[in-house]
Amino acid sequence: MIQHQRPRRLRDNQAIRSLVSETSLSVNNLIMPIFINETITEKEPIYSMPGIYRHTIQSAIEHCKIIIDQGITACALFPGIHDEKKNSKASEALNINNFYYEAISKIKDTFPELLIISDVALDPYSSDGHDGLVRNDKIINDETIEILSKMALYQAKAGADIIAPSDMMDGRIKVIRETLENAQFNNTLIMSYSAKYASSFYRPFRDALESTPKKGDKKTYQMNPANRLEAIKEVQLDEKEGADIILIKPASQYGDIIRDIKEHTTLPIAAYHVSGEYSMIKAAAEKGFLSYEDTLYETLLSIKRAGANMILTYGAIDAAIMINQKRKI
Ligand code: PBG
Repeated sequence: MIQHQRPRRLRDNQAIRSLVSETSLSVNNLIMPIFINETITEKEPIYSMPGIYRHTIQSAIEHCKIIIDQGITACALFPGIHDEKKNSKASEALNINNFYYEAISKIKDTFPELLIISDVALDPYSSDGHDGLVRNDKIINDETIEILSKMALYQAKAGADIIAPSDMMDGRIKVIRETLENAQFNNTLIMSYSAKYASSFYRPFRDALESTPKKGDKKTYQMNPANRLEAIKEVQLDEKEGADIILIKPASQYGDIIRDIKEHTTLPIAAYHVSGEYSMIKAAAEKGFLSYEDTLYETLLSIKRAGANMILTYGAIDAAIMINQKRKI
């Protein structure tokens, strides 16, 4: 039979498949999230995130060495602090000598070239487990921003390269940007969690930080998973307010949102392949139902295909090893 078009010609061998590949995953695209914790004296595994640990500052530094050796250029740090330091005002967040600022500055001093992405939200410090201040069961927006902007400044002073507000308060990017500019941190980047959905995929992360809300949920500040247009609105506001990079999370169930935003912004896009998305693959692989490597790689590739420039993923080191050993092309 004569067929003028046979799409399979372009799939016949690896060489031609590589040549016509529309998307590729590179180590340059990967960001490793790291949990650091002041309550431990040596690193400890996180039950609901197989392969991921809570780190001391020292073990985080050793971990960063592995990250750098694989060619990854950025990490995102998340703190866990002593319970007795948590209160309803999240006041430990504004202790300039707190564990988090110390960790940022020690890691920065050890690896000046590694980009540090720091987290801005109250949940690690709040006895309520919310990202903002709570009063009469409501999350108070504007007062929270005052704290967040100071946190951002302290993080920049400690050596963070990229400030990443994950709190979803309205108007915080503007105040953080102005605070940084006023203090001459003109080159500090802001990676805004613009479209952060109220997702059940964050549960292992909350286990890792012991930061589950004591009461209620996060639906009055994080987005409704049903919404698309609202994500574009959030991005447009953050652009105007001074964000440099737009973050969307979760990632793999939200490819349509990543694509929508890609078509509406010229800013680089980060996607966060969150704890539950990672643990789901790990758990299925442990049962022998899926291949961890193949599923992780395909997932990350599809997040890039959706339009992400960079991906935060707990599988960053594993993916980098696969790429560096050319086990995946
Ligand atoms: C909280 C925060 C969360 C994540 C990042 N920052 C959880 C939440 O909003 O409750 C989730 C990341 C993950 O699940 O890997 N500020």
